[in-house]
Amino acid sequence: MISIRQVSKWYGSFQVLTECTTEIQKGEVIVVCGPSGSGKSTLIKCVNGLEPFQAGEIMLDGTSVGDAKTNLSKLRARVGMVFQHFELFPHMRIIDNLTLAQIRVLGRASEEARDKGLKLLERVGLKAHAEKFPGELSGGQQQRVAIARALCMDPIAMLFDEPTSALDPEMINEVLDVMVELASEGMTMMCVTHEMGFARKVAHRVIFMDQGRIVEDAAKDDFFGKPRSERAQLFLSKILQH
Ligand SMILES: Nc1ncnc2c1ncn2[C@@H]1O[C@H](COP(=O)(O)OP(=O)(O)OP(=O)(O)O)[C@@H](O)[C@H]1O
Ligand SMILES: [Mg+2]
Repeated sequence: MISIRQVSKWYGSFQVLTECTTEIQKGEVIVVCGPSGSGKSTLIKCVNGLEPFQAGEIMLDGTSVGDAKTNLSKLRARVGMVFQHFELFPHMRIIDNLTLAQIRVLGRASEEARDKGLKLLERVGLKAHAEKFPGELSGGQQQRVAIARALCMDPIAMLFDEPTSALDPEMINEVLDVMVELASEGMTMMCVTHEMGFARKVAHRVIFMDQGRIVEDAAKDDFFGKPRSERAQLFLSKILQH
């Protein structure tokens, strides 16, 4: 579903990604972790064309992301992206946040978009909040709305960039629960997260990045079990202390 081959990227003379290569099959859940500044967000943004890259190739369901002929907005509409900050439109009701792109980008009729929005709100346990504004919801609830909004577009894959790291501890689980459910339904997911409990539970593979490189790309049990690179061990020992 997602193929990343020898991808390198520079910001001016600073190389942020160096020859990153990995494949993500349909239905696979990949957790991407690594120290701050290692290029995790950059890599995930390259996957749906939010950031350009100068070398290598990324294929998304058979379409080349870096190809100048590719219609990026069309491609992006098929990939759900959930960031650390929910980025809901504050002046729009929850249900309108959910229907906007369905109507504008997919051309759905407003009734159909509304039905779909309500169905997905129900799925994340927030149907009762459809008529509220984002500011009336907690951070965890807003992040669940952001996930529902992405799902409204019938995505072929979902990309997450630290979706729980801006949340209060008691709200993290409600968001992770939604992600666990998505994973169990067979959604293809690439998740930047340091929630190692989530990784242990649902990831098929863990990618560990350091200084712009994919240092480890291992089956979950290997990553957590067998000896791994010193850098990954050090990183894990640090985050598991907390
Ligand atoms: N727009 C930019 N211009 C120049 N350098 C950038 C830009 N965006 C990111 N960088 C640099 O690229 C490197 C990788 O950044 P990135 O955000 O991908 O890291 P990350 O692994 O997601 O880190 P974090 O865990 O803190 O989110 C960092 O050194 C960062 O300073
Ligand atoms: Mg980041």
